[in-house]
Amino acid sequence: MATNINAEALKESPIPDAIAPQPQQSKQTVDPYNVSGEIGEDGVMKAIDYKKLVEEFGTKLIDDELLARFERLTGKRPHHFLRRGIVFSHRDFEIILDRYERGEPFFLYTGRGPSSDSVHVGHTIPFEFTKWLQDAFDVPLVIMMTDDEKYLFSEKRSIREVQGYCNSNAKDIIAIGFDPKKTFIFSDYQFMGGAFYENVTRLSKHITLNQARAIFGFDGSTNIGKIHFGAIQGASSWASSFPHIFGDNEKETVAIPCLIPCAIDQDPYFRMTRDVSARLNYEGTKYAKPSLIHSSFLPALQGPGTKMSASIDESAIFMRDTPNQIKNKINKYAFSGGKVSQEEHRAEGGNTEVDVAYQYLKFFLEDDEELEKIKVSYEKGDLLTGEIKAICIKHLQEYVAAFQERRAKVDDEAVKLFMQTRPLSWVGNPNPTRT
Ligand code: TRP
Repeated sequence: MATNINAEALKESPIPDAIAPQPQQSKQTVDPYNVSGEIGEDGVMKAIDYKKLVEEFGTKLIDDELLARFERLTGKRPHHFLRRGIVFSHRDFEIILDRYERGEPFFLYTGRGPSSDSVHVGHTIPFEFTKWLQDAFDVPLVIMMTDDEKYLFSEKRSIREVQGYCNSNAKDIIAIGFDPKKTFIFSDYQFMGGAFYENVTRLSKHITLNQARAIFGFDGSTNIGKIHFGAIQGASSWASSFPHIFGDNEKETVAIPCLIPCAIDQDPYFRMTRDVSARLNYEGTKYAKPSLIHSSFLPALQGPGTKMSASIDESAIFMRDTPNQIKNKINKYAFSGGKVSQEEHRAEGGNTEVDVAYQYLKFFLEDDEELEKIKVSYEKGDLLTGEIKAICIKHLQEYVAAFQERRAKVDDEAVKLFMQTRPLSWVGNPNPTRT
């Protein structure tokens, strides 16, 4: 899986400094604040090794059996992200399926750090998947906007600035198509207090400074807001933080678990939350541990081992890009797995493992047969780099245009509706097996 990016191509392609391999670091790093592939002895960055992450983090790979069970229970064919290993790992997803089977309550929890107005296609991936899960399970969804995080973790952003991003990012999220009857979007700055803050302190009381250092790599010069932040992100995993959705009978709500769809870099927060949950009970009722389902990263245009960056225009396709900008970016920057000359390409074929146009098609082209045809043809050398890029451009343009059309209809009223503290209504499994 770990494929080297061609050293020559790396030298030639215009890689912005911020996402270019930093030769001094050699090991693969994936945590909430850093994502980069291993740097080989040749100074070249490799693709993220997801298998290794699963081993290191102690999560489980999603296998065919689990997917077959999901399909049996929900009657829904697994999403193409699941079929293609883009969503590839989990913690206790079985427990969620057990509960769905028996018609017992659970909820979905995900979030977004509103760091800027420039939402890109890499940001929309986990939300697309979350919406699909919400449709499949018909359960409540809470979406945390970590405006506080984006203030604490930045040297330059002001509180007012992140609040502004929070509002526009909420619109972007609503434009994915969530159902307001089942979805609560909240800003940490607005929602903190009450049951949520009680849970924040309940969690923070059980995390020592040594643990936070070990989990997140903090040191003595880290500001204390950052050190505490994990308790905030973690506390939304507990249903008892949302009495307006689940009621205020704590003995019941502490036992309701959530399923967290997230990119795998967020796992450390929830590993910590799971450890604390295991140590807590309310009058003898155990706290449910959050379950997780992890996605891989949409690579930056510069290739595997990198992640799109909202602050680097050439690294990403933004949800506000015009069809022409999309076309130019793919043509100019998308790392190619094709050969240097046409003759060589026709003779030897291209490498889909590193080819960014192909990698994006895996995310955005739903038709399995069509994707397979493209793969075979590109690897044989029949399909040329310019041609695979043209196919990729077409699909991305369609995806972004459809988003922009929905986004244009989301106004401040919609944001108010989604962010209002209110009861939600949902059905869950219409035909549960009661035991
Ligand atoms: N920390 C995440 C970010 O920077 C936001 C977030 C909060 C989140 N809670 C989450 C992401 C739960 C996934 C799941 O984007």
